[in-house]
Amino acid sequence: MTHTIQPNNPEATPAPDATDIPAVSAPASSPATASPVPAALKRRIPKYSDLAPLMQFKKPEFSKEARLKRASTIWELRDIAKRRTPQAPFDYTDGAAEEEITLRRARQAFLDIEFRPGILRNVSAIDLSTEILGKSSRLPVGIAPTGFTRMMQSEGEYAGSQAAQAAGIPYTLSTMGTASIEDVAAAAPHGRNWFQLYLWTDRDRSLELIERAAKAGNDTLMVTVDTAVAGARLRDVRNGMTIPPALTLKTVLDASYRPAWWFNFLTHEPLTFASLSRYTGTVADLINSMFDPTLTFEDLDWLRETWKGKLVVKGIQTVEDARRVVDHGADGVILSNHGGRQLDRAPIPFHLLPEVKQAFTADNTKAAIMLDTGIMSGADIVAALALGADFTLIGRAYLYGLMAGGRAGVDRTLQILEKDMARTMALLGVSRISELTPDHVRLLNK
Ligand SMILES: Cc1cc2nc3c(=O)[nH]c(=O)nc-3n(C[C@H](O)[C@H](O)[C@H](O)COP(=O)(O)O)c2cc1C
Repeated sequence: MTHTIQPNNPEATPAPDATDIPAVSAPASSPATASPVPAALKRRIPKYSDLAPLMQFKKPEFSKEARLKRASTIWELRDIAKRRTPQAPFDYTDGAAEEEITLRRARQAFLDIEFRPGILRNVSAIDLSTEILGKSSRLPVGIAPTGFTRMMQSEGEYAGSQAAQAAGIPYTLSTMGTASIEDVAAAAPHGRNWFQLYLWTDRDRSLELIERAAKAGNDTLMVTVDTAVAGARLRDVRNGMTIPPALTLKTVLDASYRPAWWFNFLTHEPLTFASLSRYTGTVADLINSMFDPTLTFEDLDWLRETWKGKLVVKGIQTVEDARRVVDHGADGVILSNHGGRQLDRAPIPFHLLPEVKQAFTADNTKAAIMLDTGIMSGADIVAALALGADFTLIGRAYLYGLMAGGRAGVDRTLQILEKDMARTMALLGVSRISELTPDHVRLLNK
């Protein structure tokens, strides 16, 4: 039986005429012999019954929950945060020191890798829990200390500590926190709260905070050592940043675009260094007095004798210093350059990590290795764990969530990171953090 092929489009398949007929007969597949057009490819006028299932016009949702749910990455939370926060506090958070080279490099370092996945592993159940400093954490990430957090969004430290409590991860309160040690402990009584100390040679001043932290149930003291002097945060200089933000013509204009931030700011308790309230100087005086350039390893020895809980040292930037603080009694090191906010062109913690891991393994050093700076996705965290980190901390990633939507925004940050980590591990073919090894990561550009 023969089929008569009716070309659908006479222009595309011209009707043969005498001049088109080749001297030699064309092979069956030649375009000259028109193929049959499948029925599904023939054009037709759409019917309503075809269109109806495709039409999904939903009422636009403007709620906070809907706004946060639309963000699938930390970068998208950052976009929302930027729209909702006045420029000066946003830049204070987002910015880094000098030319911001350190921060850019730290973020780029996580991108300059290639994962090496294993296939055909059973990854139906992913366990992201781990142990850090003698206790378990539901995720291998905690919240880093950040100062002035209620300036970014008025729920500040309360949002951070309560979100961490709900997620089953540690939360670190900064000495420069705008909620007190006691108030955070009361807000997140079942959370694992750590306290970050700016150590001073004025021992009475340090001692008071240490005792309050212990009394409030903090099991870990994190002493930050990369702040001999303040870094040059040039965005703050350009913005004429003051703490608290001053009502100038510029900020009043800015307020008209971000009414919710200003409404929250002006209708909540004014910003203070809540844990330092007995100091009566101006905020500027307090900031100046926060960093003590006279500190040495002897002060660390004093701290080790005084603080009975776990002691970790934050701001380690060389292998030698990692070894040295452990020799002086630290239970853990935090490889960090303060989120690029102190020394520009500082060592990148993710690059330093394999060297410190190697040194600790060679010396049989048991101290925990933690890392921060530049983490913007769960894949970054997985890469750090694979290269030897026991734990990671996030600063801006949670602050972007906070500025995007208060407590719910911090919850969203942690959800995004958790989902990222679980997916990355499944695609790598590992079910547990202990199965991650340096073989899962290849460093590009090395
Ligand atoms: C706005 C802001 C305030 C910070 N305040 C403190 C602080 O008071 N004490 C401290 O040890 N580190 C502080 N840090 C540094 C963080 O603890 C952390 O090292 C850094 O944010 C990690 O980099 P990331 O932001 O890329 O995650 C701050 C960081 C930011 C962004």
